[in-house]
Amino acid sequence: MTDRSQLLSALADVVGGRYVLTSNEDVAPYATDWKRSSTGVPACVVRPASTSEVAGVVRHCRELGFTIVPQGGNSGLAAGAIPDSSAGQVVLSLNRMRAIRSLDPVGMTIEVEAGAILQTVRENASEVGRMLPIAIAAEGSATIGGVIATNAGGLNVLRYGMTRDLTLGLEVVLADGSVASGLRHLRKDNAGYDWKQWFIGSEGTLGIVTAAVMRLVTVPRHSVTTLLSVTNLDAAISLFELTQQDIGEALSAFELISAQSIDLIERYAQLKSPIAAGEWFILLEATSSLSGLRDAAEAVLAAGFEIGWVVDGVVAESDMQARQIWALREHVTEAEARRGSSLKHDISVPLTRMGAFLADAEAALESVAPGAGLNLFGHLGDGNLHYNVLLEPDHDQQAINRVVHDVVVKHGGSISAEHGLGQYRVDEWLRVAPDADLRLASTLKTALDPDGLLNPGKILPSKLSHSKAIGETI
Ligand code: MLT
Ligand code: ZN
Repeated sequence: MTDRSQLLSALADVVGGRYVLTSNEDVAPYATDWKRSSTGVPACVVRPASTSEVAGVVRHCRELGFTIVPQGGNSGLAAGAIPDSSAGQVVLSLNRMRAIRSLDPVGMTIEVEAGAILQTVRENASEVGRMLPIAIAAEGSATIGGVIATNAGGLNVLRYGMTRDLTLGLEVVLADGSVASGLRHLRKDNAGYDWKQWFIGSEGTLGIVTAAVMRLVTVPRHSVTTLLSVTNLDAAISLFELTQQDIGEALSAFELISAQSIDLIERYAQLKSPIAAGEWFILLEATSSLSGLRDAAEAVLAAGFEIGWVVDGVVAESDMQARQIWALREHVTEAEARRGSSLKHDISVPLTRMGAFLADAEAALESVAPGAGLNLFGHLGDGNLHYNVLLEPDHDQQAINRVVHDVVVKHGGSISAEHGLGQYRVDEWLRVAPDADLRLASTLKTALDPDGLLNPGKILPSKLSHSKAIGETI
């Protein structure tokens, strides 16, 4: 028996033969990322139905020398859940583990299995007047496990924080096949290390999240959605300051969309902006249990007009109009994909550096890809910009990545704000990350997964052999 046939029969004993996928046709949806930029060749895809089955899979893979790539809804934007081409990696899909285990509207928590679809979890919460405030365009396919593994951000981070801020407890299968159970429904827990934090955002490299307890919030009764266009970035930032002052904690989204992005949306998603263009558009949303939001939004808009920051604007008159405004924002990525290939940069910088970053990035990009088209949009309130370059055949992607990320570093930013490093940004992270970050990452990886069983090549190089990553002291 070859190693692979031994593996297939061992995995079939654990999960049942029909849940071990091997044919090209069955494996294909698990082997290519959403962007279709990365395709791997897995040894097989295995679909366990319980935590103990996940643990069994881990033990067999370890014994037989196959590594594991955990996968949720495969909607990530950095190919972090895609195997390499060696046929030596097993894709472990959590998509059969979808149970909503409990929902507590008083304590405001929900306990779910890792493969539960984000949208389903949100719908369950909303049935009892509660909300899981993780808002991402891929909510119909993204899973809770994937959202946790990437510490996903999204549209409401400004108000509710990242996934990390909404995760109360985790159950994780570790690299040795043991299960760490920490499904606590507690807001306060200072007993020992807060170990769940090690796994949130770890992209499946330290353990496999099998279930989670998430914090819920109340569904706000009132909301106001406004789309406006502004003269330039300084005006957008000044308006953000004013909005924070006047609308304060009710501000739930302050999204930035460039005029070029609106152009792409109109061309490739057949949607139309209801207002005249400025250099940038802003989607501002406020939500609250208290009324008076509409007056507050109109006052901000009026002040913006008077000072000369705002070119045009509309406050949604109905839920339908609000949804139409949101549709513009939610179709940016799809429109970009329909145009052709692009090189995404998921960057963040301190808000006060955003203007300088943009000016420097433009000059740097001009030096390696003169005249390149851009799709710039993002979460201005969080200092997170998707600095996406529309690729042409003659573009040198590595050169573009380097110059953009160098400017990010110069302005004290991060090269991975909310999508994770995945496959696309590992090399760049190894190039620009501070030594202390790399040393600590290696220490954690070595402690929790000494043999490099889990998602090799993501976050750190496969065999932990990169000299900079290992460092002299480890
Ligand atoms: C978004 O903000 O819509 C996403 O992060 C998607 C993207 O960067 O394309
Ligand atoms: Zn985003």
